Amino acid sequence: MSRETPYTSEQIRSFGLEPDRLPRHIAIIMDGNGRWAQSRGLPRIEGHRRGVNSVRAVVEEASRLGLEQLTLYCFSSENWKRPPTELNLLMRLLRHYLVEEREEIHSQGLRFSTIGITSELSPVIQEEISRTTARTQNNTGMRLCLAINYGARAEICQAVRQLAQKASSGQIAPETITEEMISAELMTGGMPDPDLVIRTASEYRISNFLLWQISYAELYICQKHWPDFREQDLREAISSFSGRDRRFGGLRPKTALSE
Ligand code: IPE
Ligand code: IPE
Ligand code: MG
Repeated sequence: MSRETPYTSEQIRSFGLEPDRLPRHIAIIMDGNGRWAQSRGLPRIEGHRRGVNSVRAVVEEASRLGLEQLTLYCFSSENWKRPPTELNLLMRLLRHYLVEEREEIHSQGLRFSTIGITSELSPVIQEEISRTTARTQNNTGMRLCLAINYGARAEICQAVRQLAQKASSGQIAPETITEEMISAELMTGGMPDPDLVIRTASEYRISNFLLWQISYAELYICQKHWPDFREQDLREAISSFSGRDRRFGGLRPKTALSE
């Protein structure tokens, strides 16, 4: 199978999007799988299963649009609170995805990576993660980052510990710690911050996702449950993003000039 052909600028414009106003990095809180299933009288896991189709569609579309990175929140460090049967099925599904999609991810030229404490996952899943990461590490296309057993506070805590160790061993002086140094110690070190965070299923919260990295991200909340989210929904989110004024605490360029 060959690599997905990227959209041309004309194609991107035909979607109502501006090729030079696309986000570099989109992060998605894929929520609502359980509700999607329950509203159809199906077991919650059926929602997770169907959600994989949305993952496939959105990964391909993000890559065709030429994004630099797509980060998907798959499993939070708080999701361990769920019943054992759901956890078992979620882990099986994750393993299945990693095995089944490996060659597809590779053939699309994507670079796979994860954030989160993967050492707490089963050895089998750790192995599949390593395989997919290794298989795709020399690819130059979009980075596909899965957040698995991820929690932003735990991530920040780990970064603080690492910096404290460097300080106590004399490698760095505490007063020289910068924002860039903190960013570099996070699991996302070296990745661009997300420009756009999408959350499905009408929830207006962040749920411990990328707290440091999204300080100036644009938020887009979508009503659809994740299993219903498709290419067109991604394009709508990007269209909303493109129309926004990102001021980063400053003024709009026009306002600044007219003063
Ligand atoms: C999101 O769907 C997937 C995970 C958190 C693993 P949910 O399972 O949270 O679905 P709802 O929110 O209960 O509908
Ligand atoms: C956030 O969804 C985590 C993932 C999508 C993996 P949750 O369903 O766990 O979030 P809360 O519990 O509604 O905040
Ligand atoms: Mg949920």
